[in-house]
Amino acid sequence: MKRATIEKKMKELLKPHLGLLTEDAMVYSATAGGKRIRPLLVLTVGEDIGVEEEHLIDVAIAVELFHTASLIHDDLPPIDDADFRRGKPSCHRVYGEGIALLAGDGLFFLAFSQIAKVKEPKLLEEFSETAYKLLLGEAMDVEFEGREEEVSSEMIEKMYSLKTGALFAFCFSAPFLLKGLDHTYVKKLGERFGVAFQIYDDLKDVLGSFEKVGKDVGKDVKKVTLVKKLGVQKAKQLADKYYEGVLEVLESEGLRKTFDFLKSLKKMVEEK
Ligand code: IPE
Ligand code: IPE
Ligand code: MG
Ligand code: MG
Ligand code: MG
Repeated sequence: MKRATIEKKMKELLKPHLGLLTEDAMVYSATAGGKRIRPLLVLTVGEDIGVEEEHLIDVAIAVELFHTASLIHDDLPPIDDADFRRGKPSCHRVYGEGIALLAGDGLFFLAFSQIAKVKEPKLLEEFSETAYKLLLGEAMDVEFEGREEEVSSEMIEKMYSLKTGALFAFCFSAPFLLKGLDHTYVKKLGERFGVAFQIYDDLKDVLGSFEKVGKDVGKDVKKVTLVKKLGVQKAKQLADKYYEGVLEVLESEGLRKTFDFLKSLKKMVEEK
């Protein structure tokens, strides 16, 4: 139900108006079959604390548009040079690098206009800060390349909390913010969830198959990751510890639907 609403809204919003390839590229990447974890999370947390779907759908769409934009740029040759995304050729492989760059920009801007529709200045402020954090995390990821010796595991964890944790933190906290509740603890929770999520993603790059993961594996050879730093075993233990920790807090805080959602997601997140 939630998923169908998300898909429908995304399609409506991205309907091409000018017959541009860039518009097609945005539709292509946004509808290529992502797991939609972030928008579902926004709606599920909302359900737990009594924020109606109609008040959160713009936020849910915004985070997914933003996430997709970040993936288009992340896949570009000067960044990760990835040929596949969501089981299909990556945006620049289909439309070329220039169009992919524009399509990413387009989805970033659309994400902001969706958030602005909510007319809640604090939400816009948080979203803008989140966007900047993701950028800084991506920058660290790029600039750490080949510097395995000098980059500590604390620095890698910081990078994960920025490039992946920040957007999850926003997903967790947006409903709290709209409800006028203190969102400090859920923000931390989201960030921690993001770090675990990124470790599982890095594990998939080492242990996974294209069929299951839907993207190129074995691509992180030059990257500095916690999997390389700690080894497969210890990295998995850390991800499990963080994931379980998040579940415990959700349960103790009575966020039952979010707890169930993330518990049921664990298999998919881990699938290699
Ligand atoms: C991929 O995120 C990027 C990371 C933060 C590791 P997802 O695994 O949620 O990707 P989609 O949206 O399902 O394609
Ligand atoms: C996460 O890192 C990407 C973003 C936060 C944009 P990765 O580079 O590991 O993500 P994948 O593996 O390409 O999905
Ligand atoms: Mg990357
Ligand atoms: Mg990548
Ligand atoms: Mg990855």
